[in-house]
Amino acid sequence: MNKATLGYAMTGSFCTFEKSLAQLQTLIKEGYAALPILSFHAAQTDTRFGKAKDFIARMEDLTGHAVLQTLTAVEPLGPKKLCDLLIVSPCTGNTLGKLAAGIYDTPVTLAVKSQLRAGRPVLLGVSTNDALEGSAASIGKLLARRGIFFIPLSQDAPNHKPRSGVCDFSKTLSAAEAALRGEQLQPMIF
Ligand SMILES: Cc1cc2nc3c(=O)[nH]c(=O)nc-3n(C[C@H](O)[C@H](O)[C@H](O)COP(=O)(O)O)c2cc1C
Repeated sequence: MNKATLGYAMTGSFCTFEKSLAQLQTLIKEGYAALPILSFHAAQTDTRFGKAKDFIARMEDLTGHAVLQTLTAVEPLGPKKLCDLLIVSPCTGNTLGKLAAGIYDTPVTLAVKSQLRAGRPVLLGVSTNDALEGSAASIGKLLARRGIFFIPLSQDAPNHKPRSGVCDFSKTLSAAEAALRGEQLQPMIF
């Protein structure tokens, strides 16, 4: 039985794709329908963590939908009210910065704009080495925006990478349920 319909977007934090896909699988097992979305870089870049075409195939296999990977594909998200909640996880420092600055030139950032325009919530799963540096200002700005929630995050390696911050991917389901109720899952920083 389907619960809400989710947009499930991934941006280019390639090292966390496996963790994110495991959460997408959990959400689907829980009965959520999901529309997969990738940023241009996520959809087109092969890295040591895997080939783009393989990640696309896995997302399509899990969700049963073609990955939305162009501006034209995501533009109707808000106007047509296609998603009850849009999850962006992993969310890079790049995407955080664009969202905070009001720049919407990728499928994921435009999907967020479109979703917010419809008054519907967005859940961000931060993963960036500069969460407590360059991206701290972006996170701060986005905290003040109505309709934006965060998967709880922490420093992932305070001794080796003191400025790095990563969300706890295992909290995606509970953070999504909270965001669908209009609430931020607490503690947001742990
Ligand atoms: C192998 C690899 C791993 C990366 N990991 C991250 C990461 O964890 N977090 C991050 O913010 N950027 C990371 N980047 C950089 C982003 O991919 C880059 O900033 C890109 O412009 C992001 O675009 P997008 O946000 O539109 O996907 C990584 C890049 C590469 C090649």
